[in-house]
Amino acid sequence: MRVLHFSDIHISLGLAEIPLFDWPGKRMAGGVNFLRGRGRRFKGALRKLGRLAEFAETDSVDLVIFSGDFTAMGTNAEFAAAREAIQPFVDSRAEFVCVPGNHDLYTRRVVRRGRFEKHFGDLLTSDVEDAPVDGPWPLVRLLGDDVAVIGLNSARPNPVPWKSSGRIPDAQIAALRSLAGRPELEDRFVFLVTHYAPRLADGSPDTRLHGLENADAFLEACAGFDRGAILCGHVHRTYRVRVPGVGPEIFCAGSATMHELEGFWLFDAGADGLAATRGHWTGDDYDLHPSEG
Ligand SMILES: [Fe+2]
Ligand SMILES: [Fe+2]
Repeated sequence: MRVLHFSDIHISLGLAEIPLFDWPGKRMAGGVNFLRGRGRRFKGALRKLGRLAEFAETDSVDLVIFSGDFTAMGTNAEFAAAREAIQPFVDSRAEFVCVPGNHDLYTRRVVRRGRFEKHFGDLLTSDVEDAPVDGPWPLVRLLGDDVAVIGLNSARPNPVPWKSSGRIPDAQIAALRSLAGRPELEDRFVFLVTHYAPRLADGSPDTRLHGLENADAFLEACAGFDRGAILCGHVHRTYRVRVPGVGPEIFCAGSATMHELEGFWLFDAGADGLAATRGHWTGDDYDLHPSEG
């Protein structure tokens, strides 16, 4: 099965295009900073996503996995634009699985109004009905005869502007542990997907202000899966790293659309295991680095 994993597209519309009533409350200052600073590097995101959908079609992708941060501030306008931009992937022959990023659950108000669920809720289904214990999480998708995806939500609002850390709720970690023994997942290669990276490229944990609070508990639960891969984003760099004692390797997709850092992963996964190839943006198109698995 051919799998495209991408992340952190951060669709933003510019300050002038956000209706006043749609401002996400307290985090406005942080949002303005994002749009004026890093946000500028996502200006070509919509055009690039169109090209990525063409790439997926041409390369016969069977499954698309998105690991969060559709938007910059979680406004309705951004969510609508992001949904429209990923619709070609949803409408294609490939399956589409996604989890939210911290920018999609940006403020308590965004969460209270259920904006992520409003725009992406129809995609949060689970093939193992009793798997979800925390809203739709963890969701489990069984694909073909030999692949499965488990999606976990590690994102939450961070009311303090300088903090952007995440945490997978304990109930989801416990559910993940019990999924490791389920017959439905036996003999399948399992993609374990969440927004936050449990380790950085050099194998060290991310910082307390930016990382996954319970990364060790998550990795311990992932170690229960013999054949699998941990897919994440949040860190806008494309990398792979192994953690001693944890079978599934970590693949961070980085950002598919951030100017000069655009990257993603393309996998061939099945009963035999996983072959990974790194993808990049050429300036007009997306292409693969066959030598950089
Ligand atoms: Fe991000
Ligand atoms: Fe993020």
